[in-house]
Amino acid sequence: MMDSTAHVAISAPDLPTVRLALQRAGRAPSIHNTQPWRWEFDGTSLCLYRDNDRLLTAADPTGRQLVISCGAMLHHVRTVLAAGRWRTDLERVPDPGRPDLLARLTFRRWADPPEGIMARAAAIEARRTDRLPLAAPPGFEEVVRSARMLASPHEIELDVLDDRARPLLAEASREAGAKRRYDVDYQAELHWWTGHSPDREGIPRTALPSGAEAVHVPVARTFPTPPHSQRRGDIDDHAKLVVLSSAGNSLTDWLHVGEALSAVLLECTRAGLATCALTHITELAGARRSLEGLTVCDGVPQVLLRVGAAPADLTSAPPTPRRPVGEILTVLPPMARDMD
Ligand SMILES: Cc1cc2nc3c(=O)[nH]c(=O)nc-3n(C[C@H](O)[C@H](O)[C@H](O)COP(=O)(O)O)c2cc1C
Repeated sequence: MMDSTAHVAISAPDLPTVRLALQRAGRAPSIHNTQPWRWEFDGTSLCLYRDNDRLLTAADPTGRQLVISCGAMLHHVRTVLAAGRWRTDLERVPDPGRPDLLARLTFRRWADPPEGIMARAAAIEARRTDRLPLAAPPGFEEVVRSARMLASPHEIELDVLDDRARPLLAEASREAGAKRRYDVDYQAELHWWTGHSPDREGIPRTALPSGAEAVHVPVARTFPTPPHSQRRGDIDDHAKLVVLSSAGNSLTDWLHVGEALSAVLLECTRAGLATCALTHITELAGARRSLEGLTVCDGVPQVLLRVGAAPADLTSAPPTPRRPVGEILTVLPPMARDMD
């Protein structure tokens, strides 16, 4: 994939190809599985818009996590299209007068996309957010090396925290949970997204840890607890803790964070590792400052990741739901006429 401000499209995929690409890329992670994105296709370019109706006004009033989620979807789409031999040229936030328009993609044929992109595209279907305890990840140094390379074009730094950070982050998690416990708006929002419409959006109960399971994962967002279960009851969490930080904190920085997050998650999945993105710490100013003190780079901590190995004795959790493509894609004339 290549970024370019020159967007001379010499060809473009047809509508069924775009639909299929959006369907596959729709597996992208998003905060509370809100899927806060909309797309428009006019036969030449594919535009990504933020969907402000899906903003979490209590947890994410500035829309930072909404835009990070859109960035993850953007990277997923480019990865799927690249695996289908479509190279995309990208303009981020192309029109300052329309801040809801986050990205515009145009297309060129691509004879031989790199192996790594094909492997990451294949990982999209397998990736899940894993909130249960994880074992230490084998081959982690090598995965970190490639993850850093994937994040660097986005100017995103990747810090691996050492084990001394674990109790400090567990404490920051506890404090974040305590601060939110009586925040009525935050709790209402969280319960809405973990309790309704389980076939289209939100986090299903099966993807959340029970009380007994959550005890083993001290660095985590506190969710409503589903009925008792004791999956992986015999292990404590030994996931590596990784921080993604950006140089600035602008709309474009957030988009880059999401793109880098997507690349890192898919690279971990490709390597057989389990992941969980966490933002409960970075969404509170005080807790975020405690994270700043733990990273080597001077950037703004945006997302914390748990990366580990899921025991093979358990079947992987069912995928979380997604909205149908028809709901996130608008086809503009003249393409719209072809649908009749
Ligand atoms: C910006 C962002 C922030 C997230 N924050 C959290 C979090 O704090 N805790 C958590 O357990 N999952 C978090 N997630 C994971 C989402 O809940 C998850 O991607 C979504 O429910 C879809 O499920 P899936 O990743 O298994 O497909 C976050 C994801 C993104 C993109």
